[in-house]
Amino acid sequence: QDASGARVFNLDIESGETLFLDGGPTETWGVNGAYLGPTIRAAKGEKVRFRVDNGLDEPTSLHWHGMHLPPDMDGGPHQPVGPGETWTPNWTIDQPAATLWYHPHLHGNTADHLYRGLAGMFILDDDNVDQLKLPAEYGVDDIPMIVQDRKFDDNNQFDQSIPFMSTSGTLGDEIIVNGSRGPYHEVTTRLVRLRLLNASNARMYNFGLSDDREFQLIGTDGGLLPEAWATDRVQLSPGERAEIVVAFEPGETVELRSYEAEFELGDMAPARLNGDEDRFDIIQFRAADTLTDETEIPAVLASAPDLDTHDIAEVRTFELEGRNINGERMAMDRIDFGVREGDTEVWEVTNVNGYIHNFHVHDVQFQILDVDGAEPPPDLRGWKDTVLLIPDLRYRLAMRFDGYTNPDMPYMYHCHLLTHEDQGMMGQFVVL
Ligand code: C2O
Ligand code: CU
Ligand code: CU
Repeated sequence: QDASGARVFNLDIESGETLFLDGGPTETWGVNGAYLGPTIRAAKGEKVRFRVDNGLDEPTSLHWHGMHLPPDMDGGPHQPVGPGETWTPNWTIDQPAATLWYHPHLHGNTADHLYRGLAGMFILDDDNVDQLKLPAEYGVDDIPMIVQDRKFDDNNQFDQSIPFMSTSGTLGDEIIVNGSRGPYHEVTTRLVRLRLLNASNARMYNFGLSDDREFQLIGTDGGLLPEAWATDRVQLSPGERAEIVVAFEPGETVELRSYEAEFELGDMAPARLNGDEDRFDIIQFRAADTLTDETEIPAVLASAPDLDTHDIAEVRTFELEGRNINGERMAMDRIDFGVREGDTEVWEVTNVNGYIHNFHVHDVQFQILDVDGAEPPPDLRGWKDTVLLIPDLRYRLAMRFDGYTNPDMPYMYHCHLLTHEDQGMMGQFVVL
């Protein structure tokens, strides 16, 4: 803790080597280590302060994805940290328990910096969730899972080339979970909670268990769902998170896999060219012969998103096409619009040309009012900050801009397929 009572975290960005393949090490980047970074954990109401030291030879940044915070603490394209420099953002956690994450956001270099290994989880806690009897023992029955695909060249180095005809970006044929290839987890409890994060540059995952058993989806990007939803698949596009709880039987071995994606793309971006027909093993679970059974999934997890949609200050339209949003690409010195602090707005977002895109908004969690006029499916009924845009469907997102104003420092909204983002599929807004 520092003098202001903030909890201080030291984050050193550095380069190093990681042994993924038997043939020899891969040059990687990491935070406080050679690949990925530590899980940061803080509670609602807590003040946090970071010392981000950039030990690389080039500028980068760290953005706190999903966090409600002042725009100059956001770590986006306007907060680069030069080589050898230190950046010390601080804010007070002011949102419910959730699985967030952090990653670089230097304009034009986000894909490269994340691919090299800069990313980590940022878990938020709050008293309401602490009182539930959900699995919550970190590393035992509450497991962070940073899922990434990587491609290696003949020298075991990361290969960021984009496959011929792929419209979505770099796709790998090896799955890395928390920096490990071919991982397993020894299960000692009946219920296990997985915090799934798609930290890949371009790949979609459609997670399910190898015997197709049902599991409970309990949380999405911004926190717990109103109630658990029993399903056998959960699909995540880059940047999205899901918390699921899986029930195990003593002595069994089960895999978590990623299956073919379950949506149709237009003719422009056939699924097979974008990796959406690929299948992967993600992690193996090996259950002990006796399992403890002290946790449960309560009937009510959280209150449902309840923005007041009778009082919408502004309705905005966003069309994603090619690498443009509303016909424009990101320009560092162009602010696209201003929103008023305290207002609730509705953003109507449509992917109009059939490539794969998703949509992420900084600073807020949004409520999906409808998908092309229909009630959102159960996995889109909680707070979200990133949503897959199935081509030609109009997603109506409600969000409220609270707390922080700054006419000079924007927040971003963008496609989270990182090649698209780097190519300019991003815009900027300020809160006034
Ligand atoms: Cu995960 Cu603008 O970022
Ligand atoms: Cu973000
Ligand atoms: Cu995109």
